[in-house]
Amino acid sequence: MPAKSIVQRLITSWHRDGPAGFTAVVAKNVGHYIGWSRVVARMKASDNRSRWFDKSIGVDTGGILEIGALSIRSRNAMHGNRYQATAVHVVEDFLDLLPPAVEEFCFIDFGAGKGRVLMVAARRPFLKVVGVEFAQELHAVAIDNIAHEDRARRAKAVECVHIDAVDFEPPPMPLVCYFYNPFGPTVMGVVIDRLMRSLRAQPRDAYVIYADPAHIGLFRRDPRWREIASHRAGVVLRFVPDQ
Ligand SMILES: C[S@@+](CC[C@H](N)C(=O)[O-])C[C@H]1O[C@@H](n2cnc3c(N)ncnc32)[C@H](O)[C@@H]1O
Repeated sequence: MPAKSIVQRLITSWHRDGPAGFTAVVAKNVGHYIGWSRVVARMKASDNRSRWFDKSIGVDTGGILEIGALSIRSRNAMHGNRYQATAVHVVEDFLDLLPPAVEEFCFIDFGAGKGRVLMVAARRPFLKVVGVEFAQELHAVAIDNIAHEDRARRAKAVECVHIDAVDFEPPPMPLVCYFYNPFGPTVMGVVIDRLMRSLRAQPRDAYVIYADPAHIGLFRRDPRWREIASHRAGVVLRFVPDQ
């Protein structure tokens, strides 16, 4: 806010609220400003971490892209949420909440965007890391990004599939499914149903990491999905079949 406007507001408050009211207004605004600066500082710090991650590999996974600005040949475009990547430290926090032995697991990012989550997950020893993305431009960027050399990579394979999430068949191995609120409840419901069918046909271990879990109710309606951990950015669930 420009200095002149602040001074004008202070003068207005002095005349309008009197000395006691003026002091209260100033105290409130200073508190607000300090609180807000802290939030901004935290956001900048997390951005810096993600930027540093990108720089260390030589990629760019930042930015926001609206669905309407992307080439998507799917009737589900109307249910999709815009591209915005999860902060690197948040992905790492989520991965730390999983059991330590992930060597047999396939990690899938539903709505993988530019592939940031794939690259962070690939630094863990997953058997496979797969991105599922329906926007042509984002898929192309993800393919390019995951092709960059990352000396910290430990996953055996990393790939990105250009497909609508509703058409993606989960591979027949233990799963970690990552969702950063990629789509609305209609598509989310279909994706969960497909996942459940796959788990019924081939019972195996399955975890879900759901960041910004807008439609968590779709999991909560089935008690076999147990919330095993929570984070300020979302939840981790494990599928526990009936004994
Ligand atoms: C919020 S971004 C998340 C990006 C990435 N997972 C991350 O956390 O950094 C949501 C992504 O889901 C994609 N998306 C939305 N609906 C989809 C669908 N039906 N099939 C595949 N991708 C979809 C969007 O194009 C966008 O890239």
